[in-house]
Amino acid sequence: MELGVNIDHVATLRNARGGIFPSPVHAAFVALEAGAFNITCHLREDRRHIKDEDVRLISSLTKRLNLEMAAEDDITKIALEIMPRSVTFVPERRQELTTEGGLNVLNDIKRYEEINKEFKSKNITVSAFIEPDLKQVEASKKGGFDFIEIHTGSYADTIRQKEKSVELERIKTAIDFASKIELKVNAGHGLDYKNIYSVALLDGIFEFNIGFSIISHSLFVGLGAAVKEMLKIIKSAEFSKLKDAASKNTGGD
Ligand code: PXP
Repeated sequence: MELGVNIDHVATLRNARGGIFPSPVHAAFVALEAGAFNITCHLREDRRHIKDEDVRLISSLTKRLNLEMAAEDDITKIALEIMPRSVTFVPERRQELTTEGGLNVLNDIKRYEEINKEFKSKNITVSAFIEPDLKQVEASKKGGFDFIEIHTGSYADTIRQKEKSVELERIKTAIDFASKIELKVNAGHGLDYKNIYSVALLDGIFEFNIGFSIISHSLFVGLGAAVKEMLKIIKSAEFSKLKDAASKNTGGD
């Protein structure tokens, strides 16, 4: 399992003073050096944090950019110019604080099929950020996506343990179905140092995309340490799964 680090909030801090510090490009290199697999940035229509120049530089210097974007013509044009490694389509509303809810691929399969063809012809991997809803998973396959990214917000936001288990089960069912129809799976939104472990114990997730908790924690421990700490939890869940599988194969501990 891999970790993609969303660095939008580094840009939020930079923009607070309108200067060039702290630099999202610098943050990208620190996160990658600490073991992140991808750098995720959301180029929003209102450019409230990440700017065009940030994604241009991060894509060309690191070759590890996962660009979150709305499926709009102007952003698509920019994305095809800067050639990120992957794009993740997300719904976008101007007033929202962060991405609320998943994409409705089901309503727009043909449109995504067209856009995805264009990206895939340039070897850019395409992913759909969707709720753990089987109809949306199936629509994502029909729309030609390589990946889905499961929105873990409902799981993360739920406080009561019983409801959390229900949300986790929804995520598991969506992952199992996606794997069955040969869609690769990422997951993200609202994941933090406490709630990641249970999700990381599920089989079939390729990458977690995590931003807010890592950037917040980095204020106290530094970005490299915050990334490593998150990776350690993900890897310990992975290790626990391997140990379980090994003990099943050998018939005991
Ligand atoms: N994945 C997607 C598609 C997102 O839109 C976001 C938020 O920008 C994240 C992951 C990361 O969410 P968080 O900042 O809550 O970790």
